[in-house]
Amino acid sequence: MTASGYDETAALRYAWTESRPDSFSLRLAPRLLRLVAESRDDRPQRALDIGAGTGQLTDALRAAGLRTVGVDRSLPMLRHRVDTSSGDRGTVVVGDAMALPVIGPFDLVTATFNVLNHLQSTRSVECALREVARVLAPGGLFVFDVNTRVGLVATSERIERQRSANAETTWRRWWLDDTTLRLHAQGTFDLDGMRHHYVETIDKIVLDLADIERWCMSAGLGSASWRSDDLLTELADPEAHAVAFGVVDRCSGSRLESRSDPGRPEPTAAQ
Ligand SMILES: C[S@@+](CC[C@H](N)C(=O)[O-])C[C@H]1O[C@@H](n2cnc3c(N)ncnc32)[C@H](O)[C@@H]1O
Repeated sequence: MTASGYDETAALRYAWTESRPDSFSLRLAPRLLRLVAESRDDRPQRALDIGAGTGQLTDALRAAGLRTVGVDRSLPMLRHRVDTSSGDRGTVVVGDAMALPVIGPFDLVTATFNVLNHLQSTRSVECALREVARVLAPGGLFVFDVNTRVGLVATSERIERQRSANAETTWRRWWLDDTTLRLHAQGTFDLDGMRHHYVETIDKIVLDLADIERWCMSAGLGSASWRSDDLLTELADPEAHAVAFGVVDRCSGSRLESRSDPGRPEPTAAQ
């Protein structure tokens, strides 16, 4: 059993961090929407966000006119969103990526901010991809990102401290075995005049990108194209990057238009 944090305090901390304008989801959203717009002639209608968490990406998709469903196995993460957002919040459902509690079809399915690394085992990821294939409409897009082994190794076996005016976190990461990196975060943050303390333990599994490609094909999703975080630049050697974004075009298995990788950057820290 892998450790998955995301309890109530972690949800509060997560939402607080992810509401910053430079957050992962808020930077990704316009790139994702551009990719979706360029990949089809008609307007996509329905989006499923797997591992939606506190819902920043889901909200951005809904603001762009999509009907959204967010699925996450953490009730505190989903509840934080329901409790704090006003207006139409779309549909949120507690559920597991391995047995999605939805029927579909969806024009867009996302699993971003390394959700696949959070699953319990490689077997779970294979199973989750079959679930994506079940609910993704013909002509639909599946977009996800993976912390590669290089990315996980780059962050491991060191202690990292982040300090700002209103938050402090200490991260420790160590290998449980060859396949699982444990992240332990401990810290404080100030919100609404209160100081919150949190402790969080999350496990991330190592995923071989070639395995993911194989599982996508055998699930009937078609081939995965590996991109940088602009979702445009195709990575010639994705395993050499800390993070690789997978784009699967269910339509024909054909590659969406992309530009080629200008070079191999040094791995950067994976979140
Ligand atoms: C790093 S967060 C990403 C949240 C969101 N996608 C974002 O970009 O902010 C990972 C999320 O995956 C969820 N998760 C982990 N395992 C899951 C599973 N088996 N099924 C569904 N969600 C899962 C966690 O609860 C957590 O909310």
